[in-house]
This record gives sequence, structure tokens and C-alpha cells, in this order.
Amino acid sequence: MKFLRSDICGQSLLSWSRIRSLSASRSRGNRLILGIETSCDETGAAVVDENGRLLGESLNSQKRIHVRNGGVIPSLAQHLHQQSIRDVVQSALAKAKTSYQDLSAVATTTRPGLALCLQVGLDYTKQLVAETGLPFIPVHHMEAHALTARMVDNSVSFPFLVLLVSGGHCILALARNVGDFVILGETLDGAPGEAFDKIARRLKLQEHPQCKGMSGGQAIETLAKEGNIHLLDGKHLFRMQRKDCNFSFIGFKQAVFRLIQEEEKLQGTSNILENVCDICASVQHHITRHLVTRILRGIEYCKMTDMLPQEKQILVVSGGVASNGYIKHALGRLCDHTSYKLVCPPPKLCTDNGIMVAWAGMEHLKLGPGFADNPQEVRFEPREPLGVNIANAVAEARVDIKRFKFWTDG
Ligand code: KG4
Ligand code: ZN
Repeated sequence: MKFLRSDICGQSLLSWSRIRSLSASRSRGNRLILGIETSCDETGAAVVDENGRLLGESLNSQKRIHVRNGGVIPSLAQHLHQQSIRDVVQSALAKAKTSYQDLSAVATTTRPGLALCLQVGLDYTKQLVAETGLPFIPVHHMEAHALTARMVDNSVSFPFLVLLVSGGHCILALARNVGDFVILGETLDGAPGEAFDKIARRLKLQEHPQCKGMSGGQAIETLAKEGNIHLLDGKHLFRMQRKDCNFSFIGFKQAVFRLIQEEEKLQGTSNILENVCDICASVQHHITRHLVTRILRGIEYCKMTDMLPQEKQILVVSGGVASNGYIKHALGRLCDHTSYKLVCPPPKLCTDNGIMVAWAGMEHLKLGPGFADNPQEVRFEPREPLGVNIANAVAEARVDIKRFKFWTDG
């Protein structure tokens, strides 16, 4: 889709040379970046400065529409991004009281994500930078989730351990620097957010009066508060024999689906089950447990290999699933137990947004400068790893971990 010239700038156009000279003078002051996010189901834009101050933000969430459809339909998501991207960008700039000539660069998510969705943000950005002469910083979506922690807490310096948990990802990595990540473990199939979403759909939670318009994860967290965690036996659900840091959700999902089927037979209903809260509490508990054991092994591995300095150990948790209070509480206990500091951005910054993309762009700009040499040649990459994968080396180390109880019975 081509955006009209006036659609892109939407502000009185300055000549390119004037913008460039303003850009040069700005580089000596507090630089500003416009971030654009369209990798999945949120159209987001934001302007941040180099101190991590948010000047203005706008977000158009498609979540409610996709929840109604039972999942993200890429062509529909693409259409919705196309419809809203201009307004979202204009609104972020207006709220920031910023125009293009105040910016040092435009940062946009180009990888990984849904191809049709990434394409909208990339096409829009290409036209924007062609018209304004602004530099373009392509951003890795998962890196943006990880770096958000450094925007909200300036004690987060490299290296740090990071768990990225969302609807499409589950990665445990060591962040060594901007653009320099080592993957200790990642999912072999699915992701925790996807497991929450599929189980919530199977439980028909969108029809539950307390869960209207919520994502699967939010719905399960809401009902879990009133449930008991002991319905499922985790030992039988997550059969992860290998002593590694990889994650797997497929066997767990199947076991939960079987349980739901049995309960439906037992209760003689295909509507919402009477023990739905207990199922939600157990599901949330066992997914948490799976994450906790992998992180604990990752922490032990970093200790064994001296990958993190003893005096400053930080665990960052981000991505949509990191807005889950039960998971955060468990990770808080894990961090107390291991003398790590837990840093988790607020829920609004854990789910997809333009702020994290703007900030990731700023991190690259500061390091020097991360601009695409030829913006019109930039391609989107639906799959691109966050960094070097050493999961096999971690598995070969066969790190034993002691049982750690993060929950209180009751
Ligand atoms: O990072 P995100 O906004 O989008 C990507 O997947 O990239 O994450 C969305 C995922 C969804 O699967 C949603 O169910 C999950 O995050 N999620 C939650 C919660 N809020 C959102 N999962 C568990 N608990 C929550 N409170
Ligand atoms: Zn995300």
C-alpha cells in the first residue's frame, strides 16, 4: 500500500535540506526518536528522548477484534494497521508537541513478526524517511522488549539476564550489549501467551462475564485469583527431561485440553465449567513453574560460567506475559532466593507498543548510530533470532537445580 505524501507527513513540509540542517543542530542537544510498531496486533507510535523520557505516545490495539475472531488473522491485522498507522503516528507527534524537524531518526520494528503486519510499518517508514530525509533505524521487536527495562530503570546496565515471554516468543537470554544477545534457551514449540490464549478459548472465557474483551492471559489471571492450583499435577504435564533452558508447551496444552474434555463429560456441559477458576489457577501455576525452573537453571549456568558479574545480577522480564501478577510474584521470590534484582516494566510497556521501539532505536543511536545505509533497501524478516544460540552448550552442561517452591499453599 502506498501512502500519500500528505498522509505521511501530515504537517507542513519543510525542505529536506532544512530538515537535515535542523537534524545536525539537534544532534548536539537532547535527541528525539519516533518509534513505530506494527509487528503483530498493535499499531503503536511514540516519541522518546535520550534520557528515556516519553514525550508522546499513541496506540491502536486490535486485541478485542482478534479475541472475537479466536486469534490474529494476518490479513485483517494488516488492514487494521493500514487504516490506523497515519493517525497513530500523527497523534504521537501531536501529543509530544513534536514535528519531524525535531527528530533525530525514525525507528521501526522490521523483525521478527507477521510478514503482512511488518510490511505496513516498513512501507510507511520508507515513505516517511524519503519525504523528510530522516535516518531510519530498523528495530528487532524482541530486543525492544528487552531494552525497555533500561528505559524504566537506569540501574539496568549490561550484562543482564532476560526472559522474554509473549504470544509468539519464549526466550531466556543474556543481554551483553545493545544488539548483542546470547540465547540460553528458547521455546521448542509455541509460547506461554499462546498457551494461555488457546486454553482460554477452549474454556470459552470470552463468554465469561468477568473476562469480556480480555486477552487469554488476562482472562486466566483474573479467574485464577479465585481458583485452587492443585487440580493439575505439573510433574506429569511438563515432561522436560533434558537439563537445559529450553521451553515446551505442546504437551502441557494437550494435557489441559484432555482434562477439559473429561470435565465437560463429567459435568454434562459444553459451556463454561463450574471449576473453571481451578483450571485457570492450575494452568497459570504450571506455566509459571516451567518458566521458573528454566530461569533457575539459567542463573546456575551463568554462575558456573561466570557470565554475569557477582556484584550486580539482574533479571529482566518483559513481553505481554510479563504483565501477569502471579508470574511476577513467583519471579520476585526466585530473585530474592538467588540475590538477583528483578526488573519488570509496567504492564503497559510489557505488551507491544511504540515506546519500546523508539527507545530501542535510541539505544542504537547512542551506541552509534544504527542507521540503515540505504533505507529503501531495508527488508522485513518474519523470523530472525535475537542473537547467538548456545542452548546446546547449556544442555551439555547438564546443570542440576534444587527444587524451589515459589508458591504458598492455601
Ligand atoms: O507482547 P505481546 O503484547 O504480543 C506479542 O505476542 O508479541 O503479548 C501478547 C500475549 C498474549 O498471548 C496474551 O495472552 C499475553 O501476552 N498476556 C498475558 C497477560 N496479558 C497479556 N498473559 C498472562 N497474563 C497476563 N496478564
Ligand atoms: Zn511483543
